[in-house]
Amino acid sequence: MTGFSADWLALREPFDLRARNPRVLDAVVAAFAGTQQLRIVDLACGTGSTLRALAPRLPAAQNWRLTDNDLSLLARASGMTRPTGVTVTTTPIDLNHDLEAALDGPVDLVTTSALLDLVSEPWLDRLAVESLARHIPLYAALSYDGRVEMKPSHKLDAAIVAAVNKHQRGDKGFGPALGPQAASAAIARFKSLGCAVGHGTSDWTGGPEDREFQMAIFAGWASAARETGDMTLGDTIEWLTFRRDQVAAGRSSLRVGHVDIFVRPTATR
Ligand SMILES: C[S@@+](CC[C@H](N)C(=O)[O-])C[C@H]1O[C@@H](n2cnc3c(N)ncnc32)[C@H](O)[C@@H]1O
Repeated sequence: MTGFSADWLALREPFDLRARNPRVLDAVVAAFAGTQQLRIVDLACGTGSTLRALAPRLPAAQNWRLTDNDLSLLARASGMTRPTGVTVTTTPIDLNHDLEAALDGPVDLVTTSALLDLVSEPWLDRLAVESLARHIPLYAALSYDGRVEMKPSHKLDAAIVAAVNKHQRGDKGFGPALGPQAASAAIARFKSLGCAVGHGTSDWTGGPEDREFQMAIFAGWASAARETGDMTLGDTIEWLTFRRDQVAAGRSSLRVGHVDIFVRPTATR
């Protein structure tokens, strides 16, 4: 499974759904109570998980413009079952180059999930400028924040997490990524611009029964850690073997820190 493969997005979606911060979600829903028709742009939609999470809670008449640069994911998003009253258009777009174009036209809400940790500080600034200049609220869910708890523990856990967090700050197509700093940077930036910013944790939790999910995460982390050059092959193998054995034996549990935010410009339209 690669970072954005449809298989990985499908595997993580139930964990994302369970993790989404209910208070932040309630604030999004409350902001649009009584609205007759909503026009939403979802940035980096993948197969459409944010629509599936949010649409059932919003007023019935919704138009979603789903954007991503992966045509295969967009095709899946376009074909998904959607609630009555919800219309969907898909827009293939490179959000690094064309964020501004993605937000053109009438938009009531911008959404995204698992994107902010991939972007750079200058890109975050562009998002802030564009959403504020257009007075559009932003719901950005599931930004990884660097907190990890694994049980049972292993002596190499801290080294692996440090390497993963370093890898997270590499360039993911938007310049040097904010990685684990993304949510705190976004909260600080939007607050400094006078926005109302609600936020809360949305941690993934995996229990002993969540074998496939944990196996995929640990494999991804081992390979990310190796790519940094900070872990020896021997240490990486030792750590991954231990983790896989614990998962296979039904003894492994995992928490991965994420943060959700909901930003409201002071004068929303
Ligand atoms: C971690 S996935 C999250 C997908 C979806 N939001 C979700 O939560 O399931 C990141 C998404 O960003 C998209 N992406 C990455 N770089 C992009 C770019 N430069 N322009 C548009 N989309 C991009 C990927 O194709 C992928 O769908």
